Amino acid sequence: MKEEKIELTFVKANFNELDISEQELIEKAKNAYSNAYAPYSGFLVGAALLLENDEIISGNNQENIAYPSGLCAERVALYYAGAKYPDVSVKTIAISAKSKTYDITDVVSPCGACRQVMAEYQQKQKQNIRVLLHSPNDEVLIANSVDDLLPFMFNSEQLRKF
Ligand code: THU
Repeated sequence: MKEEKIELTFVKANFNELDISEQELIEKAKNAYSNAYAPYSGFLVGAALLLENDEIISGNNQENIAYPSGLCAERVALYYAGAKYPDVSVKTIAISAKSKTYDITDVVSPCGACRQVMAEYQQKQKQNIRVLLHSPNDEVLIANSVDDLLPFMFNSEQLRKF
C-alpha cells in the first residue's frame, strides 16, 4: 500500500486584478444569470464561454418541475457552443451566481456533472480550458485547466479497455 498525493493549483484574485477581457467575460456570466429560469431553487447561475474564434457564448440554468430534467448553466452554455461550433475550442469559462433568497459569499463551484462535461470538452479540443469562478464579493478563483477541478475524470480511454 502506498499513499500518494496530488496537487491542484488555483489562483485567488480580485475581480479588479483581472485583465479587461476576463472582467468582461465575468460580466457576461452575470448578465446571463439574470435570465436564468430557476423558479424552484431561486439560485441563478450564469456561465460565459470565450471561444477560440473570439465569440462569447453564454448560458444559464434551466429548471423544470420534474427536477432532474433541468440543466446547469455550464452545460447549457457548453452544449450550445458544441452544437453551434463543434470544431472551435473553448478558451475560458466564467461562472457567477446569485440567490434570490440569501447572500452568496463564496464562489459557485460547478457540480460534478458539469466538471465531467468541461473535462471531456477540454480533452476533445486538446487545449486547456481556463476556469474563472466568480463570487458576488468579487473574489475570483482561477484554474488554468479543468484537471484542477476534476482529477481522475472518467475518460474514453477507460471505456475502450472493455
Ligand atoms: N446550478 C448550476 O447551474 N450550476 C452550478 O454550478 C451549480 C448548480 C444550478 C442547478 C439548479 O438549477 C440550481 O443551480 C440549484 O442547484
